[in-house]
Amino acid sequence: MTDPSLALIPDFDLSAHNTLALSARSHLGTRITEPAMVPQVIAEAAALGLPLRILGGGSNVVLAPSFDGITALIAIKGRRVVETTEQGVLVEAAAGETWHELVTWTVGQGLGGIENLALIPGTVGAAPVQNIGAYGVEVADVLESLVAYDCFDKLERTFRKDECAFAYRDSMFKHEPGRYVVLSLRLRLPTPWVPKLNFAGLSDIDGELTPQAVMDRVVALRNSKLPDWRVTPNAGSFFQNPIVSPVDAQAALTEFPTAPAFPQPDGQLKLSAGWLIEKSGLKGFRLGPVGMSERHALVLVNHGGAVQADVAALAEHVKRTVRERFGVQLHEEPVFC
Ligand code: EPU
Repeated sequence: MTDPSLALIPDFDLSAHNTLALSARSHLGTRITEPAMVPQVIAEAAALGLPLRILGGGSNVVLAPSFDGITALIAIKGRRVVETTEQGVLVEAAAGETWHELVTWTVGQGLGGIENLALIPGTVGAAPVQNIGAYGVEVADVLESLVAYDCFDKLERTFRKDECAFAYRDSMFKHEPGRYVVLSLRLRLPTPWVPKLNFAGLSDIDGELTPQAVMDRVVALRNSKLPDWRVTPNAGSFFQNPIVSPVDAQAALTEFPTAPAFPQPDGQLKLSAGWLIEKSGLKGFRLGPVGMSERHALVLVNHGGAVQADVAALAEHVKRTVRERFGVQLHEEPVFC
């Protein structure tokens, strides 16, 4: 393979590279199409004395209007079946692949395992960082290993799943921002396929139960509930579902004994942020150019022309209102950068 060359584009427009469609520019921007370009861009940033920011699909970020550094978009492509064994089919995908396209590609071959994760915006490389999850499945459930570039030690490293510290919307990569650039994932899709249908809305699928049928149902459910970021720009769930002690959940549960509350293995309760926001009267609430979606209270939407400060102001208002109403602290899911 020839040595790939890095093209640094000045005054790089990122408004089409974040699903909240915030107007945002970067002093310099570049597309990383091969793993070998990662150390190149790190060296370039160091030589220029500029900070480096890595972006995938821009679906989990709230971008500042201007970034005085280099923004590198991860666009490394490639996916393949590595091997088929009795344990399942091992699939490898590069970080710049679109997550949903990976889901449809596996399901198209009759392979189950990630069909519940259909239609989640973003790239393959971003998926393990916040351990994307939906409808009772998380990417950690099928992840076997991943390769990441370690920007501190300046080498590629392979991490097994048990080295990633996966938890609800969390991994160790989230806790060392700026250190790792995910390059590729290996997913073990189990055979025989075991459908995960515990989540409300998945248990009554008509006809033959296949990965395709489950994916179709997930797509229909998401389309019926969540606003499409291409139509109404958003970053998915804007807050994590709070995991709190039974004491801290008391205010909500005393007033609303049937409020959604899911017991965790450690005795804590996972409450529903969307429910808390709706019951705080903020479903459909607008503040300037942004608002909480009328369709799903957990999704913060850009009605047009928003910048990072508008999003921050609404997020603070929502957190304060929910805290005052229920005594529960919400935490943002997307990263402000
Ligand atoms: N709810 C309300 N009002 C609302 C929205 C939801 O009261 O406006 C209640 C629902 O009635 C339900 C509960 O909240 O009892 C949970 O709602 P939902 O099933 O929509 O799931 P969620 O907990 O809000 C999570 C994920 C989603 C994922 C869905 C489905 C988080 C932060 N979000 O949402 O992930 O698609 O479950 O599995 O865990 C994302 O992260 O971007 C995302 C969309």
